[in-house]
Amino acid sequence: MTMKSIGFVGTGAITEAMVRGILAEPAYVSEIFVSPRNADIATRLAVEFNAVQIASDNQAVIDRTDVAILAIRPQIAEEVLTGLTFRSGQSVISVVAATERQSLLQWIGADVHLVQAIPLPFVADRQGVTALYPPDEAAAELFDTLGRAIQCNSVKEYDLLAAASALMSTYFGFMEIAVDWLEKNGLERAKGQTFLAPLFHGLALRADQPDIVSFEALSREFATKGGLNEQVLSQFGGSGGRDALWSALDSVLARIERAKPR
Ligand SMILES: NC(=O)c1ccc[n+]([C@@H]2O[C@H](COP(=O)([O-])OP(=O)(O)OC[C@H]3O[C@@H](n4cnc5c(N)ncnc54)[C@H](OP(=O)(O)O)[C@@H]3O)[C@@H](O)[C@H]2O)c1
Repeated sequence: MTMKSIGFVGTGAITEAMVRGILAEPAYVSEIFVSPRNADIATRLAVEFNAVQIASDNQAVIDRTDVAILAIRPQIAEEVLTGLTFRSGQSVISVVAATERQSLLQWIGADVHLVQAIPLPFVADRQGVTALYPPDEAAAELFDTLGRAIQCNSVKEYDLLAAASALMSTYFGFMEIAVDWLEKNGLERAKGQTFLAPLFHGLALRADQPDIVSFEALSREFATKGGLNEQVLSQFGGSGGRDALWSALDSVLARIERAKPR
């Protein structure tokens, strides 16, 4: 997979985030083609970046680029892909969620080099961790530029990370529950938010250091024996916190696996 020009079929939220990350200085490629839909986003990107051109249609994106990135919603993937002609050996990265590799290949209808990836919105700031399958050095280099790539050795690994990526909303939900509790007990909401956001930011930075052996060790590091942190952790687990999280992840994984034709 060589990348001089990158094309996007589907110019929505994740395409905008990727284009912004790819073209942050120093830009990763000098030429990006986007499909005309969504017109507002395509125009915004083309106005802001000289490197971005709006292709006449999806086929022009495929024809004019080294690497085509499929960024359409799963519901229309079959209709869109079966209407396009790909080159044999062409490099394709699909970020279409919950869609099986075999289905994508069947709809593409050519012997392309296909990698699936799960970029997150933080790629816009080159801070996104992206799971990809199968392992591919060129795709990994692209996603390392946009943050960090995790190359999965099996579909199972890829599906597990897709399930883990569904924790984002719960992360903020967890903070919101704490802010609710602070407010109910008399603290201004704004003060609760101002306190918790940097607290969680600091913890996330600590967790992402190279010396970290396990999150369990970190959890112990932050819990004095008999102290307040230890009490919350123990009471949270004892009241079903861990079970609730596992059960939600089990359900999400089952949904990801169910979404695929056998
Ligand atoms: N957003 C994320 O954080 C994220 C992360 C990882 C993966 N994904 C996956 O990436 C894909 C895109 O997600 P998204 O959040 O970017 O969705 P989105 O904002 O809805 O973008 C999809 C875009 O596709 C355009 N479109 C509709 N019909 C089209 C066609 N026939 N040809 C070309 N483009 C067409 C839509 O344009 P109109 O607005 O004109 O209809 C829309 O702008 C999905 O499969 C999603 O699961 C998203």
